[in-house]
Amino acid sequence: MALLEIDQLSAFYGKAQALYDVSLQVEEGSIIGVIGANGAGKSTLLDSVMGLTKTQGDIRLESASISGCKPGEIVRRGVGYAPERFNLFPYMSVRDNLLVGAYTARDDIARNLDMIHTLFPRLEEREGQETSTQSGGERQMVSLGRALMTSPRLLLVDEPTIGLAPKVCLEIADVLRRLQAEFGLTVVITEQNANFALTLAEQVHVLETGRIVASGTPAELTDDPRLAEAYFGH
Ligand SMILES: Nc1ncnc2c1ncn2[C@@H]1O[C@H](COP(=O)(O)OP(=O)(O)O)[C@@H](O)[C@H]1O
Ligand SMILES: [Mg+2]
Repeated sequence: MALLEIDQLSAFYGKAQALYDVSLQVEEGSIIGVIGANGAGKSTLLDSVMGLTKTQGDIRLESASISGCKPGEIVRRGVGYAPERFNLFPYMSVRDNLLVGAYTARDDIARNLDMIHTLFPRLEEREGQETSTQSGGERQMVSLGRALMTSPRLLLVDEPTIGLAPKVCLEIADVLRRLQAEFGLTVVITEQNANFALTLAEQVHVLETGRIVASGTPAELTDDPRLAEAYFGH
């Protein structure tokens, strides 16, 4: 069953259109990737699912339309978001940044903190540290953790590997796989790093200037010579 259905979605910033008739489905329990260059519309797509942009078309969660819902309502319905620039509070501790995410799911705080500390032992060791003094990888972990504090079934992650060293990218990939396999989450990631998305996602969509120009499994996309040259560096 599709947990998320995006149907003919267009998004606008004033008169400027950033997405054109984007349609895609996310099966429950899957990891899907959306790849595209800078400016393709990746953040706009995830922002639109969260109700943060002006849109046309329809977005459904478990067949119920969430178009026009406020972001807080979308979070309460089970969508967690780790945005591109994290938006952490730099002078607050790791723990307090995580608790910021807990306002919609207060009853689950202990269980969610447990899950986050299982996935990211470093965040427990450093729970009193200000996020301003953390590495990029650690901040990405706090950002993912804060999204998990909302008890999501569907997790949206915007460019999880941006600016991170290859070793840290592998750690992030491992956590996203565990969220799917051990915690039953459905995950949507966006990436400029196409190869990262291909190793992780079961289904990948290619976004170019606001339009989906190709969709398929990693094997199908890497076999497409036009995409191979533009995105996969071979
Ligand atoms: N707040 C905004 N106001 C106006 N235009 C925006 C805004 N955010 C993004 N855009 C434009 O929308 C398009 C898609 O941007 P974005 O979704 O950020 O792409 P990506 O995340 O793939 O880099 C770009 O042309 C960008 O300039
Ligand atoms: Mg972006």
